[in-house]
Amino acid sequence: MNTPREHFSSKLGFILAAAGSAVGIGNIVGFPVSAAKNGGGAFLLMYAIFVVAICLPVMIAEMAIGRKTEKNPVGAYGALSGNDSKWKLAGLLGVITPFMVGVFYTVLTIWIFIYLVAAMVGNLDYLASANGFNEIINSPGYLFGAMAAVAFLVGAILKLGVQDGIERAAKIMMPALFVMLIALVIFVLTLDNAMAGLEFYLIPDISKINSSVVNGAMAQAFFSLSLGMGILITYGSYISKKADIAGSAKLVAITDTSVAFIAGLMVLPAIFSFNPEIDPNELSSSSVSMIFLFLPKIFLALQTTLGYFLASAIASVFFLLVFFAAITSLVSIMEVPVAYFIDEKKNSRGKALRTVLTTGGILAVLSTLSFGLVDGLTSLTSYGGGSKSLFDVIYDMFYDTILPLNGLILCLFVSYRWKKHNLHKELEQGNPTFSETFLAKYVDLSLGTFVPVILLVIFINTVAKIYFGHSFF
Ligand code: PHE
Repeated sequence: MNTPREHFSSKLGFILAAAGSAVGIGNIVGFPVSAAKNGGGAFLLMYAIFVVAICLPVMIAEMAIGRKTEKNPVGAYGALSGNDSKWKLAGLLGVITPFMVGVFYTVLTIWIFIYLVAAMVGNLDYLASANGFNEIINSPGYLFGAMAAVAFLVGAILKLGVQDGIERAAKIMMPALFVMLIALVIFVLTLDNAMAGLEFYLIPDISKINSSVVNGAMAQAFFSLSLGMGILITYGSYISKKADIAGSAKLVAITDTSVAFIAGLMVLPAIFSFNPEIDPNELSSSSVSMIFLFLPKIFLALQTTLGYFLASAIASVFFLLVFFAAITSLVSIMEVPVAYFIDEKKNSRGKALRTVLTTGGILAVLSTLSFGLVDGLTSLTSYGGGSKSLFDVIYDMFYDTILPLNGLILCLFVSYRWKKHNLHKELEQGNPTFSETFLAKYVDLSLGTFVPVILLVIFINTVAKIYFGHSFF
């Protein structure tokens, strides 16, 4: 007999867990850096428009599909399409995507953990040194030690299940993260010259909006809200039938965007005030690892005013904050394939977890080796005019390319297969007057028309750019 599906204990529990998934390295590190390299205020403006106009309807639809079916993405697409194998394939993509995102996200989380420990034991200067980052990411001892710690933590949270694991971790880590973030912002804003950074960040210069700002803002918004990955379908499947989905989705989007915005208030003024000689253009390399080279330098620059000890303490708080955010995100990423094995393959939670952690772990190990330790993985292939490592291949495909595609498929599915009146029916549970709201009309109109068109255009342009080195706009 099937055990009854687990549920979040309350609406707040769900919102915190979904926000815990959404708030991650993308918000605290990715967003400020993208904003810095894409014209500050101009990027912020585009980002805000995309969140409201495109991401919110997609988010609502994902949550509704999950709650309606109480299933993982494969089960959900299957249940709503009369077990049509084409749509189940789309669901499978919604399970594979988070799994592969999990692989590169694990690599980043491992680096953050190493940074945290290094800053705590007084090695901030080493992190910021010319070779620090390269030595760390190529040192098997550090990497495997950190990986064991991360795998243990994520595995333990997931083993405890939805309420005792995922929800409880979010309830502890999210408020802690928020407090640390606010404290750091207050601190940064009281420093000299912080205002130059604030101005760059908050006053949009419309002339800076170009295709890379638009593409960057869109990819960032999708990733940051954990969309296109089956995560909100899976988490949606654990919400009670009484909860108001549209209201919850709004709160999750607001929380996620606020954290990204506030992280920008910390990082941009810090860049400008501590390191005026660092040109934001130095950040223009698209490589993620650039960010890791750059962060310790910001903190080390604090030592001239505050001394080495305090600078290290502040860096430690920052890395702890990012680490918390990363863990709750990683947990959500891994829960999707775990839910798939539990629902579809009738595995126990323990067995599903072992399968996912072992296969994911092997791929993550191979990816960490692709930064120079193993030649064959470091120069795995080449496309778009450059040599690519295993990490690059996974990142290019599953961060930049597949997310908009999954979003596009979801919009088409809801509008033309599941049908909007069914979506409405689901959204009215917990919010009986939903269909009369402006949001309801907007969701209806946008999901079947311009949202998929925009996602298609972005998908085509991204494929052309990454794989063929050619951008249409
Ligand atoms: N949204 C998270 C972030 O901003 C990352 C994430 C991606 C989480 C995919 C879950 C799924 O870092």
